[in-house]
Amino acid sequence: MILAIETSCDDTCAAVVTDAGEIRANAISSQGIHDAYGGVVPELAARAHVERCDLVVADALRTAGITLDDVTRVAVTQGPGLVGALLVGLQTAKAIAAVRGLPLIAVDHLDGHVLACTLQPLGFAPPFVALVASGGHTFLARVDAPDRIERLGTTLDDAAGEAVDKGARLLGLPYPGGPHLERLAADGDPTAFAFPTARKVRGLDFSFAGLKTSLLYKVRELGDAETERRRADLAASYLHAVVETLAIRVERALEQTGIDRLAVGGGVAANGPLRARLGALPADVAIPSRDLCTDNAAMIAAVARYRAPLPTRDALLALEAYATGQRPRATTAGPA
Ligand code: KG4
Ligand code: ZN
Repeated sequence: MILAIETSCDDTCAAVVTDAGEIRANAISSQGIHDAYGGVVPELAARAHVERCDLVVADALRTAGITLDDVTRVAVTQGPGLVGALLVGLQTAKAIAAVRGLPLIAVDHLDGHVLACTLQPLGFAPPFVALVASGGHTFLARVDAPDRIERLGTTLDDAAGEAVDKGARLLGLPYPGGPHLERLAADGDPTAFAFPTARKVRGLDFSFAGLKTSLLYKVRELGDAETERRRADLAASYLHAVVETLAIRVERALEQTGIDRLAVGGGVAANGPLRARLGALPADVAIPSRDLCTDNAAMIAAVARYRAPLPTRDALLALEAYATGQRPRATTAGPA
């Protein structure tokens, strides 16, 4: 039985997952304290994790109907993310593993989004092409095995979730904007405005900066009253461009690799229109339930099933977090 902990951003998460990938508990405490700031405040996130982490772990164990005595492995997100936030999960996981003599597995958060689809009931297995679209990252990967994840393309500027959140903010919606934008867009016409999809960016890389700017210009051009009147159309058209930007590259990746299996992950994959667009592709498509797309600890346990634990107690105790873009070459090896 794997106990997994994830605290890379503003959700405090703990999960219990069996070695076969069945989710027994997937507890999430969303902080909801960053809304007023229009984005996550790292120091506040870290402090809220300190207050909640033990409670969320206890909640996950209770839901799974087990105690720490039943846990055989501990998994934790090592990075990328906010280092202060990550450290809270790391310390909690280290303490449990060290005191109980349990193996500790350090997991990359992005591998979590890629492999969330391997959990039951989907149980999707490689080979597949993976699209991860989250608040901090957007990339395509070729997955030949759970430990062979090769990047095919990535965003050249903003992540898809960032584009969603910034667009939502321009339309006066609270943070994080994704769910709000989706609700507003439901009453709008996705063809009302033609926003760019960076179709000209060749290959498998993404770009969202132009899209965000074009919404800004459109809002200025329309003026306050007209923007207010057409908010739903603006939301629907903007979201449509985000979805198309992603879908165009996915189609290219499937074609280029010759792999007709697609897995989707990351918070933006909670979006209804994106799920519908990708689900209709002529491929075997696996999109996990919404709570497995946004940040959660079950996906961290999913990766842990395929990673070696830290080799020694010293390596376990010395384990450090890494920020975005700082991934060490081998996440399973302890520091020298
Ligand atoms: O993967 P995630 O939970 O956290 C990161 O690792 O970043 O992704 C969060 C992102 C945010 O930008 C949020 O606005 C977006 O996912 N998101 C959505 C939806 N739900 C969350 N975007 C569009 N539609 C949604 N329903
Ligand atoms: Zn994430």
